[in-house]
Amino acid sequence: MISIRVPLTEARDASYDVIVGRAIWDRLPQLLSERCPAHRYAVVTDSRVGALYGARLLALLEAAGFAARSFLFPAGEWNKVRSTWADLCDQMLGAGIGRDAAVVALGGGVAGDLAGFVAATLHRGIPYVHVPTTVLAMIDSSIGGKTGVDLPAGKNLVGAIHAPRFTLADIETLTTLPRNQIAAGCAEAIKHGVIADAAYADDLGRAAAACLARSLAALEQVVEGSIRIKSEIVASDVLEHGRRQVLNFGHTVGHAVEACSRYTLLHGEAIAIGMAVEASLAEAAGLAQSGLRRRLLDLLDQFELPAAVPDTLTCDDLLGAMRSDKKARAGAIRFALPAAIGTMAHSADGAWTVEVGSNDIRSALEANR
Ligand SMILES: NC(=O)c1ccc[n+]([C@@H]2O[C@H](COP(=O)([O-])OP(=O)(O)OC[C@H]3O[C@@H](n4cnc5c(N)ncnc54)[C@H](O)[C@@H]3O)[C@@H](O)[C@H]2O)c1
Ligand SMILES: [Zn+2]
Repeated sequence: MISIRVPLTEARDASYDVIVGRAIWDRLPQLLSERCPAHRYAVVTDSRVGALYGARLLALLEAAGFAARSFLFPAGEWNKVRSTWADLCDQMLGAGIGRDAAVVALGGGVAGDLAGFVAATLHRGIPYVHVPTTVLAMIDSSIGGKTGVDLPAGKNLVGAIHAPRFTLADIETLTTLPRNQIAAGCAEAIKHGVIADAAYADDLGRAAAACLARSLAALEQVVEGSIRIKSEIVASDVLEHGRRQVLNFGHTVGHAVEACSRYTLLHGEAIAIGMAVEASLAEAAGLAQSGLRRRLLDLLDQFELPAAVPDTLTCDDLLGAMRSDKKARAGAIRFALPAAIGTMAHSADGAWTVEVGSNDIRSALEANR
């Protein structure tokens, strides 16, 4: 046997800035030339966002003298799959997109995850930037560099970590986002308040009506606050060994609700229900101050988000889905649970999740019907 060392330089620092503001689209060409120079830009977006903003973005890039072309895929989570990834790669290769090109991911989390995965894999990786247009994409999916597609066996099972060069979140794009999509994105903002910042959670309660009415000032505050919280948590645990698990609050139950309802609920709506159930678990386990769940339910209500587990979903089906979730290890179901609004429970040895038995999970599900 011989062993030969392959000298690879250390992974480069993949830190990047998320630039947030109102009416800041016009800065894109300058930012691209400084932080993501390329000979051509491939704008990847879904059919809906493409119809709303595609032409404007291309015109902006062309006016700045860049060669750019857009590549569309049909809107909807069910298109975040391998065949769409393959179609986009084929189209881009057919159009001569080479190693010297970069991708602009324009749209919600689906466009970001798909375009990011194309960028991570085409020519073994080309640079990309995010231009998110949903609340969820601005505060959640465009932070952390996770890209990928869904498989029949589950969501996001094939993907890559590929950090964008920067993210440009222009709050004005949210003026066309439907009300239920605004609310669903804000479910992740509520999560950020619960896991890390009680004052931010209070601000959210006060801003709820204005956000739903698409006040740009209110949305800007919420988006900025959430980006700060998520990026701070991601930075504190880049390798995902510990604290980053708190971002999973509401998601163990929420993913099961999402899957068992066959994706008829929006992700944020399923997470809202998941947070309510997991708050019950935290109170029942004596980890959380009593009253935490009540406060959470008030916040969900202010954003017109659901909190009740649908009667059509049985405990057996939900438990089965939780066990098959990729985060469940060796059959045990673990949860990141809050101790108070703004503070997550963690053990002295640094564990951020606790194991909860099936009977306690059943009781929490039934308590939230
Ligand atoms: N990579 C990550 O770390 C991460 C984190 C969280 C979620 N995600 C992924 O994000 C996805 C969900 O993202 P999403 O909620 O943004 O869904 P989405 O991208 O499907 O967008 C929701 C809908 O809104 C439309 N839309 C987008 N922007 C619009 C605008 N400004 N005006 C009008 N319509 C607009 C889209 O066309 C789509 O129909 C999921 O696939 C999820 O797995 C990824
Ligand atoms: Zn989520």
